[in-house]
Amino acid sequence: MEESVQVGPWAAEAFVDYEKLLKVFGAKPLTDSEVRYLERIAGESHAMLRRRVFYSHRDLDVFLSKYETGYRCALYTGRGPSGSTHLGHILPWIFTRWLQEKLGLDLFFQMTDDEKFLHEEKLDLLESNSFAYENSLDLIALGFDYRKTHIIIDTEDIGYLYPIAVRIAKKLTYSTQRATFGFVDSTNVGLIFYPVLQMAVSFLPTELFGEETYVLIPAGIDQDPYWRIARDIAQGLGYPKPSQVHNKLLPGLGPEGKMSSSKPETAVYTTDPPDVGAQKIMRAFTGGQPTIELQKKLGGNPDRCSVYKMYEMLFEDSDAMLQERYWSCRTGSLICGDCKAELASRVRKFLKEFQEKREKARDQVDMYLIRSKFDKPSLRSRTVLR
Ligand code: TRP
Repeated sequence: MEESVQVGPWAAEAFVDYEKLLKVFGAKPLTDSEVRYLERIAGESHAMLRRRVFYSHRDLDVFLSKYETGYRCALYTGRGPSGSTHLGHILPWIFTRWLQEKLGLDLFFQMTDDEKFLHEEKLDLLESNSFAYENSLDLIALGFDYRKTHIIIDTEDIGYLYPIAVRIAKKLTYSTQRATFGFVDSTNVGLIFYPVLQMAVSFLPTELFGEETYVLIPAGIDQDPYWRIARDIAQGLGYPKPSQVHNKLLPGLGPEGKMSSSKPETAVYTTDPPDVGAQKIMRAFTGGQPTIELQKKLGGNPDRCSVYKMYEMLFEDSDAMLQERYWSCRTGSLICGDCKAELASRVRKFLKEFQEKREKARDQVDMYLIRSKFDKPSLRSRTVLR
């Protein structure tokens, strides 16, 4: 199967050729000038920007200039709650939290318990709904501000989305949906309607704030098809086009592929006991040579190493230290066992601290739910901005 076929909302396997992906999706690479622009507004640099963990975008520059001009702005991201949260999931959330703090923005976070129920054959609606609450603990543990963070659980908060969703739905033909998402005759009709709900959240802030609100969506590029359509129809419905910034997916600890719940031994879950998390790191596949002698002679390959990627994408803030690790590996002076042991101890510490916050979050979930803060947008008071 061709790579392009495997990249879409429900089929994002291992794609590492990010250049090619940019071409397939037609998004723009994040350039130094956009990174500098964002860092200037934020008043701070971020490792995920410098290292291009976030690497492409649509209209990030437009979003930033609207922000600077004083337009109302908001963030939007989400999660399909089909299981426990792993480090690959929280990677974009960590960056989103930084954006929230530095830019002072509201975040709308969608938990698509409906999507996952419709998509995963064996998942019951009760289960995906419970995961929506469980996964919310991970979000809260990351330190999002409850006054500015609004969780939407689709099956329970549908009233916030439905009036927007039907307006979107009327603009969308089946043939567009089918071509964009690869639906076939045997696709259940729930999945055919679902994308409209994911798009609806990108317009919700404008409704809730009663003013034109520019939305930035940090997400994996596999979610891009939704926003492509949302952008096409936004103006016709009186909403600004949503902007996006895309992150690379954290590789799993195996020889290939993204960190994925379908391969639990290659994923570190936020709920893994710290020692179990550390153990998974010790068993990770690396870019090293089969023996210490060969490693010393030939050096390792950090560019193809899941352990190095963990440092680069999550666990090493210092650019200088990262560089040093890179070259000690390349030149063979760093041995995989030592490199893994160091990461294992960082992961163990992270999990321990995270889990304490995660337990405290149990009492705070209500404060984050959209329904505890906003009335549903009413059809009559709708602010159409044309
Ligand atoms: N469809 C996404 C998933 O399967 C969940 C989601 C909903 C999302 N809204 C989003 C992801 C906005 C990123 C941005 O995980």
